[in-house]
Amino acid sequence: MTDHSSSIFLEPGSESIQRCASCGVTLAETDGAPSCPACGGLLDVLHPYPADASGLRASAESLKGSFAAHCCGRPMGHPSGVWRFQRVVMPRAGDAVTSHPEGNTPLLSRAALSRYSGCESLLIKHEGHNPTGSFKDRGMTVGVTQAVRIGASAVACASTGNTSAALSAYAAQAGIPGLVFVPAGKVATGKLAQTLAYGARTLMVRGDFDQCLRLVQDAARELGIYLLNSINPWRVEGQKTIVLELLQQLGWDPPEFLVLPAGNLGNTAAFGKALREAKALGLITRVPRLISVQADGAAPFAASFPSFETRGTVQAETLATAIRIGDPASWDRAVRAIRETNGLVISCSDEDIIDAKVAIDAAGVGCEAASAASVAGVKQLVARGVIAPGDRVVAVLTGHVLKDPGMLQWLHQERTDFAGANRPVEIEPTVSAVERVLREARTTA
Ligand code: F0G
Repeated sequence: MTDHSSSIFLEPGSESIQRCASCGVTLAETDGAPSCPACGGLLDVLHPYPADASGLRASAESLKGSFAAHCCGRPMGHPSGVWRFQRVVMPRAGDAVTSHPEGNTPLLSRAALSRYSGCESLLIKHEGHNPTGSFKDRGMTVGVTQAVRIGASAVACASTGNTSAALSAYAAQAGIPGLVFVPAGKVATGKLAQTLAYGARTLMVRGDFDQCLRLVQDAARELGIYLLNSINPWRVEGQKTIVLELLQQLGWDPPEFLVLPAGNLGNTAAFGKALREAKALGLITRVPRLISVQADGAAPFAASFPSFETRGTVQAETLATAIRIGDPASWDRAVRAIRETNGLVISCSDEDIIDAKVAIDAAGVGCEAASAASVAGVKQLVARGVIAPGDRVVAVLTGHVLKDPGMLQWLHQERTDFAGANRPVEIEPTVSAVERVLREARTTA
């Protein structure tokens, strides 16, 4: 990754701007346009290089010190794992900040998952520990803060479920009406329940996610609603903090590989931007290889890798409903992220994703199916010899196990061909009935 920090950051003391990634048109940071008004391209946020006390470029050491000083337990700390990185996320948010708080998610190591994947030093960054149970909270706290800054009358998104849950919660906190578009019948129960509970108006669209996204973009343009999908550049700013936080947790010593599930490619884009900026700021001296993992039935990005010459779309189908996306919106940004990090794009079968989910659940960690694509991807790459057993790898789990109770019911109570099913046992309220169950357990163990 080359370091052109002057094209990555503005001069210290400037205001952040939004810039079209396609044609270079710039907009003020508080412009609410969902995309470039000139060419329709996606917008990126550019920040000023963080300054030291004398207004000059802050050194890497002082930045690391400042991020550490803003950790939640410290006197100057911020309770949010997003806003303690505010200087490179949204420096001028002022009192518009709408934070749950979020972030500060754990980096776990589990012997069972190292054995399962074949990767001895596998670490798991569990984003399911966010307030609404997915990484989307990190982008949404920044997106909704921007909605407050620009005085948005309403906010909207299309979603496979997690973005809608996050939008609903943060819009409620900010007191802004929320509108979500979800594919009817294709959203996991936990996600839909959250979205309804927090109060967003929920539209069940007779179509898939890709149709929902087109519809919400048209509606936002025509009805003046502020769009909070991950094409919104401020969402990307928030999601960058997954990478900043995990690098900080590793003492700014990056792993060899960073693996994440991929659908609409917003997170792949955010990870690439975070690594580019961390390198330009001198926080790290090399970048990990980014690995985006799609589901076989929803893998247009993987099909286009490595040349990325054609941008294909597919009619997406996968049990991992969160990443059931056939026409990813952040394509170009994600291509840049993969190229700059010498990354890889792969896909895994639904069987392998579910198998990994079962292993993650059984390790006492738990995650929703789409999240497990990262661990399934690690296992595949170890088997292919791309990841060596001793490589340091961080796999991101994007959503909580309770997001999809329907899948758990199917796996453990309904499926007849699943050897690992942990069926509940109905008993009479007697000790002898308990004893009988214990005896059976011993004989089958
Ligand atoms: N994992 C989970 C649990 C997700 O919910 C998503 C996306 C992804 C991975 C993929 O991230 O789209 O940035 O490549 N969920 C979106 C939603 C689409 O509406 O909640 P991506």
